[in-house]
Amino acid sequence: MKTFPDEFIWGSATSAYQIEGAWKEAGKGLSIWDVFAHTPGKISGGDNGDIATDHYHRFREDVDLMADAGLSAYRFSISWSRILPAGYGAVNQDGIRFYSELIDALLDRGIIPWVTLFHWDLPAALQFEYDGWLSEKTPEFFRDYADICFEHFGDRVKHWITINEPWVAAMLGYGQGTFAPGRVSRSEPYQAAHQLLRAHGFAAERYRETYQPHQHGIIGMANNCDWREPATNSPADFEAAERALEFYLGWFADPLYRGDYPESMRMRVGDRLPTFSHEDRARIQGSCDFFGLNHYNTMYAAHRDGGAQTDVYGNGGISEDQDVALSVDPEWELSAMKWAIVPWGCRKLLEWIDARYDKPDIYITENGCATDDMVVDGAVDDQARIHYLASYLEACRQAIDNGVRLKGYFLWSLLDNFEWAHGYSKRFGAVYVDFETRERIPKASLKWYADVIHRNGLSG
Ligand code: GAL
Repeated sequence: MKTFPDEFIWGSATSAYQIEGAWKEAGKGLSIWDVFAHTPGKISGGDNGDIATDHYHRFREDVDLMADAGLSAYRFSISWSRILPAGYGAVNQDGIRFYSELIDALLDRGIIPWVTLFHWDLPAALQFEYDGWLSEKTPEFFRDYADICFEHFGDRVKHWITINEPWVAAMLGYGQGTFAPGRVSRSEPYQAAHQLLRAHGFAAERYRETYQPHQHGIIGMANNCDWREPATNSPADFEAAERALEFYLGWFADPLYRGDYPESMRMRVGDRLPTFSHEDRARIQGSCDFFGLNHYNTMYAAHRDGGAQTDVYGNGGISEDQDVALSVDPEWELSAMKWAIVPWGCRKLLEWIDARYDKPDIYITENGCATDDMVVDGAVDDQARIHYLASYLEACRQAIDNGVRLKGYFLWSLLDNFEWAHGYSKRFGAVYVDFETRERIPKASLKWYADVIHRNGLSG
């Protein structure tokens, strides 16, 4: 039997906009995702998150599903505009009540809440009035919002993630424009990323000064990164792969762990890359109690002058800044997202983080895959997902054997949900959701995951 360390956290993850629904209910304000999804042409099938999985009304049923699976933790996000409809100012007590009830329901079933404060659903008013993450004010509003959450929930919530995947918010939201707020630019991603880092710094500082001394929780960020494997043995491609990782994960993790953006970015991006003030640097460097990693995909990286401007994976306009061209191996299996299933990429990435950031405690805050699930005789036999999860967990265990301080794993996702620009066309859940009736059907993978949790490891 291939067991994991004692105390290993087995969780699953979701986010507010993807599951809650109740988009205009109980005092909630609009977020940029409400607006974006209602803009014609932005979401596959014209879908939106108005109802989503209806978790807002069915959360007790969902907590039962988690408890039945034996999850030790559940990662969810708070919708900023449910707490502060305008992004700042008056607090919506119904929002506080909803998350309070969810947290209590989890704790009643022995499930540890891991709370993300920002999973991309910025209050729309902050976009319209302040230009969202392009404004220096938005991080200050974020700190005030975070403070409200620490104050109301911090007696029971001991695990905080400030921001989910700032890379996606900056790149897809401000570079490629495929995610809210839908802006397209070669320089705005760097500005937005900078403000997201500043926002994290402000919130972490507030938590550490005002709440952590008596609430005794931990705080960190969840960054996403794919693995980049050198396309050939040439030194140029080795450097290209390293540079691609620096432009991806180093962009955020270097400021958090080393105090500044990677040198490769500074050299190539020039004055489109903002600089940290002394105060910002002091807030940001060393501000994470753990390293949150979302990981899904692997690609080859090769040196190519000018990058690959037509490559959809090419990081929007900033692929030119990297001089990297990405590709996949035709031998690799692909998920329904067309992402490559390469478990050793996960192990290599964990080892890269371990080495570069001096052995932080790491939690995989998301990993999973979309598959073409079908209901047959009332059941969903998602063997492809089980195969994916087993192979990635085995890679995690190898990383642990090699000395990586991996402390937990959160499966994305508990439920099929609103997969952003793909709408409901991609299913990531261990629980199937019928989007007509919102009926839940636990898939074979949920039972399989429950067995893994029960034995604290993989069989065989
Ligand atoms: C992550 C994101 C999740 C989920 C997942 C699968 O980037 O944090 O919200 O959608 O990818 O695409």
